[in-house]
Amino acid sequence: MKEIEVGLGERSYPILIKDGLLHEIGDDIKKRNIAKRYVVVSDAHVAGLLGEMFLNSLKAADVQAELITFPQGEVSKNLETVAKLASKLALIGVDRKDALIALGGGVTGDITGFLAAVYMRGIPFIQVPTTLLSQVDSSVGGKTGVDIPEGKNLVGSFYQPQCVYIDSNVLSSLPREELLNGLAEVIKYSIIYDASFFEYLEKNRTSILDLNLPVLEETIRICCTIKAKVVEADERESGLRRILNFGHTIGHAVEAASDFAIAHGMAVAMGMEAACKLAVGKSLFPSEDAGRTKELIRSYGLPVDIPKELDRDRIKAYLKTDKKAVAGRPFFVLPTTIGKVTVTDDVPESLIDQVIAR
Ligand code: GLY
Repeated sequence: MKEIEVGLGERSYPILIKDGLLHEIGDDIKKRNIAKRYVVVSDAHVAGLLGEMFLNSLKAADVQAELITFPQGEVSKNLETVAKLASKLALIGVDRKDALIALGGGVTGDITGFLAAVYMRGIPFIQVPTTLLSQVDSSVGGKTGVDIPEGKNLVGSFYQPQCVYIDSNVLSSLPREELLNGLAEVIKYSIIYDASFFEYLEKNRTSILDLNLPVLEETIRICCTIKAKVVEADERESGLRRILNFGHTIGHAVEAASDFAIAHGMAVAMGMEAACKLAVGKSLFPSEDAGRTKELIRSYGLPVDIPKELDRDRIKAYLKTDKKAVAGRPFFVLPTTIGKVTVTDDVPESLIDQVIAR
């Protein structure tokens, strides 16, 4: 078992990583004594695949648990779902001595974390992420929330889990596109924080893409360690945490301009390549390093070019209204060397135009 501590004073918590952990969580939860009863929250798809096995493993450890579900997909990530789930919790008599367990991908973690943050003004929750993206990113760091028609993640809260349980084995049955979504974030960590991890990803590409579990587990451990360090330094994203948005400024705009037909990871891959080009254009980043990053992204089967058919004016309009833009000026996370980035809003519009041009 690999264990990483997210050190946030009284809100500190462990991230536990192990092949097959899903079957053993009950014993660990029992030992931690977080609540008297647990409500597992899952989407209908994950509940169908893993729900029964997970509940049985909790019950075998004498952990009192039940399961509630919501329909699968980002369309469910809204206040209506939170209200419906809150009603279910109230109907089964959940109180402050109980806790929620998010079993699923990023949408499930975000909804469940937010529900835990607001139900009875806050009850404990546990993250059990089942996609690579949620294992290396969204389950760690306490960002929770839902979408509103005006934008994604516009209503939410920083609310840390009590524990994060990661079973690398669930990745064996993950659809390829879901794996690639996660790999874009994995590559992101190496470029923003760790040149030796970048080399690790260069060397271990075949093992990672072939789902070699020990290598995947080590990859997840390194990503979670980096994320933990960043979150410890800046829990509420007023400084360092912004580096986690590398590739996301243009990435989010591409995602939105495609009406979300382009998956998050693919858009982030294009956004990372665009950010590298902006950094080269500003003479911040050597072009040979940009060549290596482009090669790494491509070698994992991720796209680097923004599709020709996407409307560039729409991309630019989204850049200006990005929720992290200040007075219409988007900020960018730009690499200065592999393993280091800087955050700036000082990027001429002409350079952005050049980089996103067809
Ligand atoms: N996914 C970015 C963050 O957690 O800050």
